[in-house]
Amino acid sequence: MEAPLVSRANADAFSAFHAFVNESGLHPQTAVVLGSGLSEVAGSLDVVARAPMDDLLGVSAPGVAGHAREVLVGRWNGHAVVAYRGRYHLYQGLPIRDVVAPILALAGTPVRRLLLTNAAGGLNAAFHVGDLMLVTDHLSLPGLAGAMIGMQTGADAVGFVPMRGAYDADLGRRVLEAGEHLGIVLRQGVYAMVGGPQYETAAELRLLRMAGADAVGMSTVPEVVAARTIGLAVPALPGITHRAVPDEEQAQDHREVLEAGDRAGPMLVAVVGSVLERLT
Ligand code: HPA
Repeated sequence: MEAPLVSRANADAFSAFHAFVNESGLHPQTAVVLGSGLSEVAGSLDVVARAPMDDLLGVSAPGVAGHAREVLVGRWNGHAVVAYRGRYHLYQGLPIRDVVAPILALAGTPVRRLLLTNAAGGLNAAFHVGDLMLVTDHLSLPGLAGAMIGMQTGADAVGFVPMRGAYDADLGRRVLEAGEHLGIVLRQGVYAMVGGPQYETAAELRLLRMAGADAVGMSTVPEVVAARTIGLAVPALPGITHRAVPDEEQAQDHREVLEAGDRAGPMLVAVVGSVLERLT
């Protein structure tokens, strides 16, 4: 099934990316976004083609420590994938169009599902550092009016995309099964996206918790909205890199988040690998 295009102009903008994916000859139906500290996943992947993400997508973005940006096409546990090592964030000062470019570029390739990973703070006091959480719903709070602003133009615009039930139940079940199979505890909960790049005040964390959020981070939600707009099925899987419980002492700097990401990383990689094995 080919995903609907957001607009023809959009599809044309990504012709170099489409050629790159097609030339791999793998026809990947799954894409994976690997967040902070997960770059070592490259070891699990039998890489057939690789390219710098910025060049391929026409995005010019500043670097962030720990966020290498590369697009890989290869086989992961025998399953053909497009894997993004690194992503674009609003806090880099990029327009939303660039943040969602890696996702929109997938329209016009065989990809029909997108597994998203990220690093997040655990708002739910029952969560521990190193836990993984399957996202059941999200709160989009970066002062972001919409991830698709200005990109749904022309006759093939898909309009007002529903966000209830945005996270695919069937793929979510496979993620939970993979965790169970591997003996890895998987939490479930609501992910709140904030703009960053500062961390939240105690009052903000209290507000997020009252609003029903279990984890907080600075990415992923625009990617989910873009993915739903082009018809991809999405599960999202944050790794909890530190506690973000309002009245506990704060112990987070970016390096600590990356180090905790390194610890959660192998588990995330194992779960994603096991989910891929379960896909046809
Ligand atoms: N807040 C926001 N973003 C984050 C956090 C956090 O506590 N941890 C990792 N990304």
